[in-house]
Amino acid sequence: MTIFFEELLDHFRVFLATFEDENLREFTAFDWAMPPRALEPKELACLGHLDRTAELAAATARPLAKFVADHRAELRWSQTYTAEDFGQHFVDNYGWLEVFGTRGHFENGAVAGGLLILGPNIIYPDHHHEAEEIYIPLTGGTEWRKGDGDFVVREGGELIHHPSNVNHAMKTGTEPLLALYLWRGGPLAVRPTVTSGQG
Ligand SMILES: [Fe+2]
Repeated sequence: MTIFFEELLDHFRVFLATFEDENLREFTAFDWAMPPRALEPKELACLGHLDRTAELAAATARPLAKFVADHRAELRWSQTYTAEDFGQHFVDNYGWLEVFGTRGHFENGAVAGGLLILGPNIIYPDHHHEAEEIYIPLTGGTEWRKGDGDFVVREGGELIHHPSNVNHAMKTGTEPLLALYLWRGGPLAVRPTVTSGQG
């Protein structure tokens, strides 16, 4: 069992090592020999999108996307929002996996890292949080907005930086999104502040 989780962490680390970005390097300059945390697996409706995201993933991200798709039932998937927040369609098409952090499969009190799934035709409205964030979509075609900017289509493997407390929003098109995220410099297990209902 431990070997399986180490393999997940290894795919995560190897993918991040393909980037040459100073900020990302700082984010990931912790000791990757993190203690494992025993978590009960939990599945969500959105996991059905993982076959498609494994097909769509950028070449360097495909081993990670495929590994997660193959082992989805062994992982602890979570949600921050309920149908009261963004509706049932959102809840049925949204979920995240914390690989490491204050509640994920490995213990890390300073940096959280994981994966987010959004199904097709989903709007994740403007939200922000104290933690600074890096997102790397593993699949392309999703529109991303930062601050007061316009929505911009981001390709798989692009690095997106959200400074502390800067609003961001995502809008998927006809395909689902699988994105890697990293958080640091703020509480790592808080619900983001949502600032608009319609994105
Ligand atoms: Fe965020």
